[in-house]
Amino acid sequence: MAHNRFTWCGHSTFRIETGEDKVIYIDPYLSANPACPSELQKVERCDIIALTHGHADHLGDTIEIYNEHRPKIVAIFDLCWVLGKHGVAPEDCVGMNIGGTVDVGGVKFMQTPATHSGSMDDGGEQVYGGDPTGYVIELEDGFRFYHSGDTWVMADMEFIAKLFKPEVAMLPIGGHFTMDPVAAALAAKMTGVKRVVPMHYGTFPVLTGEPEHLAKELEGTGIEVLAVEVGQEFTLP
Ligand code: NI
Ligand code: MN
Repeated sequence: MAHNRFTWCGHSTFRIETGEDKVIYIDPYLSANPACPSELQKVERCDIIALTHGHADHLGDTIEIYNEHRPKIVAIFDLCWVLGKHGVAPEDCVGMNIGGTVDVGGVKFMQTPATHSGSMDDGGEQVYGGDPTGYVIELEDGFRFYHSGDTWVMADMEFIAKLFKPEVAMLPIGGHFTMDPVAAALAAKMTGVKRVVPMHYGTFPVLTGEPEHLAKELEGTGIEVLAVEVGQEFTLP
């Protein structure tokens, strides 16, 4: 089977083209993302969007992509409800909740908690958009990875390891709004993964955490830091 092709679009945004030719975006923060190069801002195809929470740097271009490509959107129930007010049809938003698993066309999404906040900009007003989340995503070939969303390190990461056994984790390292590299190193160990893809750093000046610091913290653990460049395609597993 063909590999799954991942592209980091900067911040917490990933584009995944699965071995079975599905295009998934996680937190499609593209047009307003200072780290996202212009060639990645254009969405040619999209079958599924997974949203970790409603903050603007994660919701990003969801509505525009939805209007153009009509993907299924996976999000916490309360966020789906707000998206409904912005034209997303109820049958297109797979509203779930923490602990649940949904199967969207052969791709499984296990929703995990995150220690963060969760609101959405609704015409200039911050409205409740559900609790913040992350996902363990199982692609069609059985490969499982964890995208934590914005979070602090949390004890639940041990449950994620035990229950879902992800092989790779995308973890924020920028600090200020999320974990820094020291906390992310602990998170990497707790989730039981072999490789970590650092995210949510460098986008803005306050997100000062760096992959080198994470790598130093993980020295001797056998956990590899996969510090991908924005726009560089990488394959997993
Ligand atoms: Ni956030
Ligand atoms: Mn964020």
